[in-house]
Amino acid sequence: MRFLLLCSIIASVLTGCVGQLVEEERVLEYHKRNYTWPLQKYVPDTPGWRQLMEERFEQIARLKTSGARYEAYYQTVRSSLLAPNFTEHGFGLARCPEGLLQALRQGIYDGLPNVRLEEKQDVITGPVPWMIDRPDLTERVLRELHPYAEEWVGMELTAHQAYGFRLYRNESNLYMHVDRMQTHIVSFILHIASSDDAEPWPIFIEDFNGRTHEVILTPGDILFYESSKCFHGRPRKFHGTWYTSVFVHYYPKHGWTEVDHRMEGHYAVPPIWVEDNYTPSDLPVLEMMGTSMREPYCPDEWCRVKDTVKWSGPGVEGYWIDPTQKKHVFNPRRVSDEL
Ligand SMILES: *[C@@H]1O[C@H](CO)[C@@H](O)[C@H](O)[C@H]1NC(C)=O
Ligand SMILES: *[C@@H]1O[C@H](CO)[C@@H](O)[C@H](O)[C@H]1NC(C)=O
Ligand SMILES: *[C@@H]1O[C@H](CO)[C@@H](O)[C@H](O)[C@H]1NC(C)=O
Repeated sequence: MRFLLLCSIIASVLTGCVGQLVEEERVLEYHKRNYTWPLQKYVPDTPGWRQLMEERFEQIARLKTSGARYEAYYQTVRSSLLAPNFTEHGFGLARCPEGLLQALRQGIYDGLPNVRLEEKQDVITGPVPWMIDRPDLTERVLRELHPYAEEWVGMELTAHQAYGFRLYRNESNLYMHVDRMQTHIVSFILHIASSDDAEPWPIFIEDFNGRTHEVILTPGDILFYESSKCFHGRPRKFHGTWYTSVFVHYYPKHGWTEVDHRMEGHYAVPPIWVEDNYTPSDLPVLEMMGTSMREPYCPDEWCRVKDTVKWSGPGVEGYWIDPTQKKHVFNPRRVSDEL
């Protein structure tokens, strides 16, 4: 195992495999950074977050193939330790300004007759989503809501991308995952519209106390979240013709690009990933689906759905709501007002 070429063994699942990183060299980097296993501290170090992540690591140790274990450690060590937390809870609900929402909704209805198919994404199951390409509108979201994201997180951000408009289709779901750490740090999902026959379709997201929330967005709701930090997904299947949102990503303006976060993630994977430590456990069986996770023997393929904090929009303009349902006054600078 010592001269294992990571790139060849897990090429199909490893998101960021660059060059030929030999395991022996990787472990040297691991020790240089003084990592130990099990983790001594978690970020943040709340009892609930620690318990959530300890259980996940225990599930990961029971994965049957080394490639899946490597990927799962890579994702979970970023969530539990490497990505700093910039907010107290990890996510919050706010509201899109009405003028912008109207423009987006119009863009969707104008685009519906001419949708294209999105390229296959490994975290989405079900029919391939539709796409409506309106770079003018996605750029507008990225720019107009930039001060919203900065105000929510309380720091200056660099805009990375507004991705859309994806339209999920009937029977789609999205397994639990964290986003790429180089560029997806402070993110939001802005739900725009769905077909008349669409049933409510919750987002599941974990907060820094280890609770799983089930949030139903209404059109115009913005869900801010720390996207490399909080596992999120829509493991329950969508029922309806279409459902559309835009996905918007920022990263810290200062000191972020100096570090290769992807490589740091690889260096932090504990060397035990090569070992097959299967022992029976009371914890649910976990499976990796590319970079995302599912628990195939539970309803909705995620066991914590039976014990979630359930809430829903609409958010209220002028406020954001935290996961304890507390309302915070929220009056970001309006970019459009300045033009
Ligand atoms: C690792 O620990 C050694 C010895 O305590 C210390 O000198 C070094 O600065 C530490 N390195 C890092 C990256 O924390
Ligand atoms: C990180 O989360 C912890 C636990 O909620 C919180 O006490 C701390 O203030 C958070 N850090 C920041 C920078 O908000
Ligand atoms: C979605 O798929 C299910 C299962 O095939 C079917 O029963 C339902 O009618 C479909 N709904 C729509 C809106 O296509």
